[in-house]
Amino acid sequence: MKAMLDNQVAIITGAARGIGAATARLFAQEGAQVVVNDLDAATLAGVVDEIKANGGVALAVPGGVTEAAFPEQLIKAAIDAFGKINILVNNAGYTWDAMIHKMTDEQWQAMLDVHATAPFRMIRAVAPYMRDVAKAEIQEQGAPREPRCIVNISSTSGLHGNIGQANYAMGKLGIVGLTKTVAKEWGPLGIRCNAVAFGFVDTRLTQSKAQGASIQIGEKAVALGIPEATRETAATRSPLGRPATPEEAASGILLMASPLASYITGHTLEVTGGAGI
Ligand SMILES: NC(=O)c1ccc[n+]([C@@H]2O[C@H](COP(=O)([O-])OP(=O)(O)OC[C@H]3O[C@@H](n4cnc5c(N)ncnc54)[C@H](O)[C@@H]3O)[C@@H](O)[C@H]2O)c1
Repeated sequence: MKAMLDNQVAIITGAARGIGAATARLFAQEGAQVVVNDLDAATLAGVVDEIKANGGVALAVPGGVTEAAFPEQLIKAAIDAFGKINILVNNAGYTWDAMIHKMTDEQWQAMLDVHATAPFRMIRAVAPYMRDVAKAEIQEQGAPREPRCIVNISSTSGLHGNIGQANYAMGKLGIVGLTKTVAKEWGPLGIRCNAVAFGFVDTRLTQSKAQGASIQIGEKAVALGIPEATRETAATRSPLGRPATPEEAASGILLMASPLASYITGHTLEVTGGAGI
C-alpha cells in the first residue's frame, strides 16, 4: 500500500517529545521527509536518530519558535534541505498556569507568544513556499501540483475554558480563528488549514506535578504538570475514561494532514476521547 505522505516534506515544531515527536515518527513512517524543531536540541537529536535508524528521512532544526527571526530560519532550513514544504504542523507549546487574579503580564504574554504569535509567524514565513508556489502552479497549469496544508494544535482549554489557564485558553482559541482565516485566504490556492484540539494527552505537559518537570524559558524554569488528583478526574471526564497516548494524538494530526482530509479545511478536530460532548 502507498504511504499517505509519500514525497511530502513536513515541518513539525515542538517535536523533541510528546505529541510532536510521535507525529514526526508517524509522518516519517508514512513516507514524509520531516523537519523537526524544538528548544531541546539534545532530545530532538534522539528523535532524528530514531527516525533515521528506522529508514526515515529527518532533519533537526533546534531553536525557539518565539524568537522573532526563528520562523524564517526554520523555513529556510527546510527549503535548503528538501526544496519544498507540503505540511506545517504548529505544535510547540507549554503551559504556565495561574488563577486570573494571580496571573502576571509575563505569564499572559508568554502564552500568546508561543500559542498564537509563533504559529502566525510560521504561517507568514511559509507563505512564499506554499501560497506563492501554489499560485504559480495554478497560473501555469490550472491546478496545484502538490498537496499543501497546515495543522495547528489547539486544546479543549481554548474551546471550553479551563481553570488556571486564562492565558493558555486565549492562545488556544485564538489559533482556531487564525486557522479559519488561513483556510479562507489560502483555500482558493488548494491549501488546507485545520486545527486539532486535544483534551488530555499523556505527555510531560500533563504528568503529575510531583514529578517536578519544568521548561526553561529565558532565565526562568516554568514548572510543568498537573496535580495528581486533577489527572485522575481529567481521565474520567471523557467517555473513554483515559488519556490519549501521544501516538493516538499524532493519528489525529496525520488524519488532517493526509489525503483522507483532502476536502476538509477550516475545521477543528476534537481528539478528546469524547470529553465535552
Ligand atoms: N498534553 C495534552 O494534554 C495537550 C492537550 C491539548 C493541547 N496540547 C498541546 O499539544 C502541543 C504539544 O504538547 P505536548 O503535550 O506534547 O507537550 P510536551 O511538553 O511533551 O512537548 C512539547 C514540546 O514543545 C517544545 N517547546 C515548547 N516551547 C517551545 C518553543 N518556544 N520553541 C520550540 N519548542 C518548544 C518543548 O520543548 C517540548 O519538547 C502543545 O501545543 C500543547 O499545548 C497538549
